[in-house]
Amino acid sequence: MKPTQETRVIEARFVAGAVDAASLPAPTLAEVAFAGRSNVGKSSLLNAMMQRHALARTSGTPGCTRQLNVFEVRCSDGLALRLVDLPGYGWAKRSKAERDQWQGMVEGYLRTRVSLRAVVVLVDVRRGPEDQERQLVDFLGQSRSVSPVHVILAATKLDKVGAAGRKPALAAVKKAVHGPVVGFSAVTGEGREELWGGIREAVL
Ligand code: GTP
Ligand code: MG
Repeated sequence: MKPTQETRVIEARFVAGAVDAASLPAPTLAEVAFAGRSNVGKSSLLNAMMQRHALARTSGTPGCTRQLNVFEVRCSDGLALRLVDLPGYGWAKRSKAERDQWQGMVEGYLRTRVSLRAVVVLVDVRRGPEDQERQLVDFLGQSRSVSPVHVILAATKLDKVGAAGRKPALAAVKKAVHGPVVGFSAVTGEGREELWGGIREAVL
């Protein structure tokens, strides 16, 4: 179904840059986390969702986001939730110690966070899901020690595929995973309402 009204974000603010579970805010509000390899466009997608230009920091250099950055958002229809920008995985320049620390922190969060309702897994529409994304989706399905989470795939950078190539590129991503896939572009805003629709379903 095509959503007709734009989701207006009337308030968006950064609440925490957490490096461990202790520095996360108390789990008092529903959360949606955004995961994917470095440079796939997580922070850009978050800015587009929040209608803010640079609240989440973006960069052409992979490895920009190194903490769990928590944002609190309120929409014009009263919907209030937290959006969590996760550090990207697969950043080769990081040391093994740093990668291990990332893994422990992010996995712990994804496994045990009671307020987590959905995880949006981002894949570049031109690459589709690879081993790491499949592992992440499996992990989310199997490892939660608390209530299960919705998993939504977002195929990003749709604007980089020519008009004729979009349908087949999205179809290929859909074929490779179970569950919903949303084509998204942070440049054109395409897919924003569809993704908000999926998030609403998970949170309400
Ligand atoms: P890390 O924080 O390093 O994990 O990266 P990230 O996943 O947060 O990616 P980020 O949003 O910083 O974007 C990485 C690069 O891709 C930037 O140069 C963005 O401008 C670009 N980018 C992100 N989304 C899109 C998109 O939808 N279309 C296009 N054309 N470029 C995008
Ligand atoms: Mg980022």
